[in-house]
Amino acid sequence: MKTLIVANWKMNPLTLFGARKLLNSVKRELLKNRILKGVEVVICPPFTYLAHFFLLLKRSQLKLGAQDCFWEQTGAFTGEISPRMLKDVGCVYVILGHSERRQHFNETEDIINKKIKAALMTGLKPILCIGENSDEREKGNVFDVLKYQLQYGLKGIPEKDMKNIIIAYEPVWAIGTGNFCEIDKANEILVFLRKILKTNYFLYGGSVNSQNAKDYIKNAGFEGLLVGNASLKPEEFLNIIKSIDQTL
Ligand code: PGA
Repeated sequence: MKTLIVANWKMNPLTLFGARKLLNSVKRELLKNRILKGVEVVICPPFTYLAHFFLLLKRSQLKLGAQDCFWEQTGAFTGEISPRMLKDVGCVYVILGHSERRQHFNETEDIINKKIKAALMTGLKPILCIGENSDEREKGNVFDVLKYQLQYGLKGIPEKDMKNIIIAYEPVWAIGTGNFCEIDKANEILVFLRKILKTNYFLYGGSVNSQNAKDYIKNAGFEGLLVGNASLKPEEFLNIIKSIDQTL
């Protein structure tokens, strides 16, 4: 499998015009440079852009992902978006359990677990985000927190489905702060996570930029990256992709 680079646009850009512009600048450059040999790039825009992007991305190498989904497929759930709807507009991946959803929407391990199961049932690949906050880090609870998040987030998922789940290690204190996790530390955590999950794909996320991206793949040993802020800057995002592709 290729190195996975996932762009989490969060609640950006504000207009469809801006979103198309951002997508097109990435798409155009990638086509020009043909640099996607060893890398799979996934764009996760806000829900409202997905159907539109599905048409724009036809015959392109870029894949589409969503930033969340509900755990039921249909029914009286005002305001929710189901995995089936995401599949219908071309999503291949869905980010679940992002720390911002845990923090602002009180998503618990139980909720995230239900969402993962619903996504798997629909044939979407869940990207489960786990990570300790600064408090947990200072108290030295990192491994316990990660173990707990995996244990309950993945509770009851059949062995045969496990390979379709991607785990993103995103230390909460590193997200959007410019304060990324040291490579040695990230490697130590990855080694720990691989003891629990032997066959899964692992991504690193948290202030990834074009300077540190390569290190997480080459030196820390992750199979991919989850990129927030830097994915909103086409040049920086392309430089991340290029830096990885050259190492393969
Ligand atoms: P960041 O966000 O790259 O801006 O730190 C990563 C994420 O939230 O997934």
